Amino acid sequence: MSELQLFPLGTTRGEDGELMIEGASVTDLVNQFGTPLYIYSENTLRAACRSYTQPIDDIYPNSTVMFAAKSYLDPTIAKIVGEEGLGVETVSGSEMQTVHRAGIPPELITLHGNNKLTDEIDQAVDLGIGHLVADGTDDLQLIAERAHRSNRTANILLRLTPGISAHTHEYIRTGEIDSKFGIPIANGQAADAVRMALNLPGIKLIGYHAHIGSQIFDVNPFKGNVKALIDFSIQMEAETGYFPEAISPGGGAGVRYEEQDSGLSPESLVKEICHSLIDYLPDKRRPHLILEPGRSIIARSGIAVYTVGTIKRIPEVRTYVAVDGGMADNIRPALYGANYTVVLANRDTSGGPTETVSVAGRYCESGDILFNNITLPKLNRGDLLASATSGAYGMSMASNYNMALRPAVVMVDKRKARLTRRRETINDIWNVFPAED
Ligand code: LLP
Repeated sequence: MSELQLFPLGTTRGEDGELMIEGASVTDLVNQFGTPLYIYSENTLRAACRSYTQPIDDIYPNSTVMFAAKSYLDPTIAKIVGEEGLGVETVSGSEMQTVHRAGIPPELITLHGNNKLTDEIDQAVDLGIGHLVADGTDDLQLIAERAHRSNRTANILLRLTPGISAHTHEYIRTGEIDSKFGIPIANGQAADAVRMALNLPGIKLIGYHAHIGSQIFDVNPFKGNVKALIDFSIQMEAETGYFPEAISPGGGAGVRYEEQDSGLSPESLVKEICHSLIDYLPDKRRPHLILEPGRSIIARSGIAVYTVGTIKRIPEVRTYVAVDGGMADNIRPALYGANYTVVLANRDTSGGPTETVSVAGRYCESGDILFNNITLPKLNRGDLLASATSGAYGMSMASNYNMALRPAVVMVDKRKARLTRRRETINDIWNVFPAED
C-alpha cells in the first residue's frame, strides 16, 4: 500500500522526492512559512463535505450537515464549508462570532455548550441563530429567560443522553448517562425537560439532539442513537402530543490515522443513519435531520510538518528525535495516546536504511512524545517530518504552553498556497499583559 494513502487526496512525491500537496512542494511551503506548519488541502476538504452532502441529499433531502467548528476553524475553512452548503456547529461565543463574520447565515449556525455564558446566549439570541442546544434544565431556563427578556424566541434542541456506549476513548465518549453533557432519557429527566420546554416562554422546542462520542468506527451505536431519539419522540408524543421538527444525532465518525484502522466512510454512515431513521419513523413523517461531523470533514485534509532538531541515541534503550513542535500544537498523543502516520517529507529514501525512533516534542514534559516507536528513514537535523490526518483537533487544541507560539496554517488549492492563519509572534503573547508603567 502506498505510504501516502492517508495523506490529502492527490498527495505525491516530486522529482526530488519531496512531498507534494495538491502539487505544492511541502519543502517550498516550509521555506516560505516555517515550521511547525499545518497545511490543508482545499480539494480534500471540499470532497469530504460532499461525501456527506451528496448521499444525504439523495436519501433524506430534509437535512442539514453542520460542520463541527471545534475540530478546526478559521475564516477560510468557514467560507469553504459554507460554499459547500454546510452549516456550522459552534460551542462558544468566539466560534459563533467567527463563523458569522465569515458569512455563514445565522440560521445555519448552532450553539452548543453545557454551561453557556449569559453573554453567549445573548449573542446567539441577537444573531437569531438556527438552534441553541440546551444541555440541561438550568441551561434551558437561562436561555428562555434571556430570550424572553429581549422579546425574542430562541429555537431549541434538547441535548439528550441516550445511554449508548460507543467504543472510543473514555475522554471523548458522551452518550452515557454519567456524562457532563445532556439530559438522561432513562431516568425520566429528559421527559421532564421536554414538559418544561413546552411551557417556557421565550423558546420554541424544535427537536432532540444526542451526540454519542467521537472517533467511532462501528455504525451500530449511531443506529442505536437514532432509534433512541425516535423511541423517545414517540413516547413523548403519546404523553404530550409534541413530535419533534428536527432530529440531530450529532457527529463522531471515525477516521483512519494508521493503515490498519478500519475507518467508516461518510457515505456508508449517512446511508445507515438515513435508512434507520426512515425505518424507525412512524408513518411518513420526515423531521429535519441534522448531522454534525467534524473530524471526518477536516482530518484528512490537513497535515502537520515539523523540522528535525536534536537526535539523542540512548544505546539499547531508545532514539529520541526531537522536532520543533509537540504537545503545544498537537496534544492528542499526550492526551489520548493517539497515533499518526508519519513520513519524511523533504526527500524520498525508499529502500534506504530505517530506524525505530520516538519523535519527541520540545516542550518541558516527558509525556511530550508526538509519535512513539515509529519506523522512519535515518534522519538528520533539518529533515522535515509530516504527519497525515492531522487536520482535526490538532491546531484547534493548540496552546501557548511554555509560551509556545502557535503555528501558521496554509491552505493549498491546485498548487496555490495561501496563509490562512499567521504564526503567532511574541507580541501576541505580550499583548495580554498590561503595559508597564
Ligand atoms: N457534535 C457535538 C455535540 C460534539 O461534541 C462533537 C465533538 C461533534 C459534533 C463532532 O464530533 P466529530 O465528528 O469530530 O467526532 N478532541 C477529541 C475529540 C473531541 C470531540 C468533541 N465533540 C479528539 O481529538 O479526538
